[in-house]
Amino acid sequence: MSAHLGKFISLEGIDGSGKSTQARRLADWLNTQGRTAVLTREPGGAPGAEDIRRLLVEGDPDRWSPETEILLFTAARRDHLERTIRPALEAGRDVVTDRFADSTRVYQGATRGDLRGLVDQIHDDAIGVEPDLTLILDMDPAVALERGLARQSGEDRFEDFGLPFQQKLRAGFLALAKDYPDRCVVIDANTDPDTIADAIAQVVAKHLA
Ligand code: TYD
Repeated sequence: MSAHLGKFISLEGIDGSGKSTQARRLADWLNTQGRTAVLTREPGGAPGAEDIRRLLVEGDPDRWSPETEILLFTAARRDHLERTIRPALEAGRDVVTDRFADSTRVYQGATRGDLRGLVDQIHDDAIGVEPDLTLILDMDPAVALERGLARQSGEDRFEDFGLPFQQKLRAGFLALAKDYPDRCVVIDANTDPDTIADAIAQVVAKHLA
């Protein structure tokens, strides 16, 4: 979406990889650089999309088939794009989102059968935009899973698929970074939050320059 004044930046990674903390820190950092950043998340980021979020993250792991999930995540994303992302970018604000379409490519497209073709087709028809920059937080799935489940957020539907699922997700995100080298940067997230935030700020500063 580089035709707009604002930059569209997504953070991606497995459950418990620290994206939410780093998304907040990145938005704060952008605001110290004389920019205005909107911090948002998926699924959610707009009132209707937050309603859809509850259908997706709560309840039994088997509640939805992967195909139904693709449609629900895409419906939430379309609302998020219309109501939050596009208006902010057009007003010259940066958008920092905790997850975007790459999560669907990996969670729904590459973990429970090969549905990547369907994900890409629906994305192209209904969404049609990619972030200017995607930061993939990469960390050990066993540590991340422990952290995620320890939170007991009541939103553990995807964590409840277990460690092999998180390992597949990690591999999926790393493969994606290779598929989209122009916009994806892998960040080592096996370290402390300050070091990770510094690494992210460096990458974003370079992108803005
Ligand atoms: P998120 O709020 O990022 O959870 P966390 O903070 O624990 O990482 O996302 C909620 C869950 O939804 C998460 O397990 C990932 C999953 N998800 C998908 O499966 N597909 C998608 O397209 C998106 C955006 C999220």
